[in-house]
Amino acid sequence: MEDFWENIYTYATSWVKEAGEMIKDSFSKELLIETKSNPNDLVTNMDKDVETFLYEKIQETFPTHRIVGEEGHGTDVTSAEGVLWVIDPIDGTMNFVHQQRNFAISIGIFENGVGKIGLIYDVMHDELYHTIRGNGAYMNDIKLPMLTESPVKEAILSLNATWVTDNHRIDPAVLSPLVKDVRGTRSYGSAALELAYIAAGRLDGYITMRLAPWDFAGGLVLIEEVGGVVTNVYGEELNILEKNSVFAGEKAFHKEVLQTYINKKR
Ligand code: IPD
Ligand code: CA
Ligand code: CA
Ligand code: CA
Repeated sequence: MEDFWENIYTYATSWVKEAGEMIKDSFSKELLIETKSNPNDLVTNMDKDVETFLYEKIQETFPTHRIVGEEGHGTDVTSAEGVLWVIDPIDGTMNFVHQQRNFAISIGIFENGVGKIGLIYDVMHDELYHTIRGNGAYMNDIKLPMLTESPVKEAILSLNATWVTDNHRIDPAVLSPLVKDVRGTRSYGSAALELAYIAAGRLDGYITMRLAPWDFAGGLVLIEEVGGVVTNVYGEELNILEKNSVFAGEKAFHKEVLQTYINKKR
C-alpha cells in the first residue's frame, strides 16, 4: 500500500514542478486575462493550460482515478469514491496577474474521501509543501514539526478583511472581537498558501466564509499531518466535493476560537 501512494506522489510532484516551469515561462509571453463570475474574478490562459496539463498526465498514467479541477474538469464527479484528485492549477490568480508572486499550485488526493497526499507548490519561491498521510509533512527537504499550542492572544490569524465588514455570510460582530484579540492578522490572497503556512507554523489560523474544494484540498491533508484541524467555521467536518466555509488552525487555537468567539454568538 505504501508503494501505491509513493508512486502516485512521485508522479504528482514531478508534474507540479513541470507545471511551475510552464507558469514561469509564461511571464515572457502575452497573458490572456478574462473574468468569470464578476469583474474581480480573474482567469488566465495559464490557469486553463496548467489544469489541462495535469488532467492529461493523470488520465494517461492513472486512468481509473477521478479528477476535479477549478477550470472545468470533473463537473460530473458527484461522489468521493475511489481515488480522487482535487486540483487548483493556480490558486491566487489575482496575485498571479497583479504581482507575479504569492500564488500556488494545489493538489489534494483522496481515497474514499480520506486525504492521502497533499501538495502545495509556491512556484516563485520554489517551495513545495508536501505530504503522504502518515509519513510526515515537508517543505522541500525540511520536515515540518507538529504544531505547538497557540493561545488566541499570541496567535497570528489569516483572514480577508471582507469578513469583518458588512457581508451576507457572517455577522461582522462575530469575527471582529477575535481580530482585536489576536496578536496579528495577515492576508496573502491565496487560500492554498495560507493553509500551507499553517502547516509550516507561520500562521496559527485561517478563516474564510467560502472556499471551493480545490482551494482547501491540498492544505487539509498537510495541516492534518502536523496535528492541525480543518473544519467549517462552526467546527463541522468539511465535504470534499462542496463549497464550504473553512476554519483551519492549530488545535488549541481552533478550540478556543470556536468556544469563545464563534459558537457563543450562534
Ligand atoms: C481564490 C484564492 C483567494 C480566496 C478565494 C479563492 P483562485 O482562489 O484562494 O485567496 O480568497 O476565495 O477563490 O480563484 O485564485 O484560485
Ligand atoms: Ca479562480
Ligand atoms: Ca483557488
Ligand atoms: Ca484557481
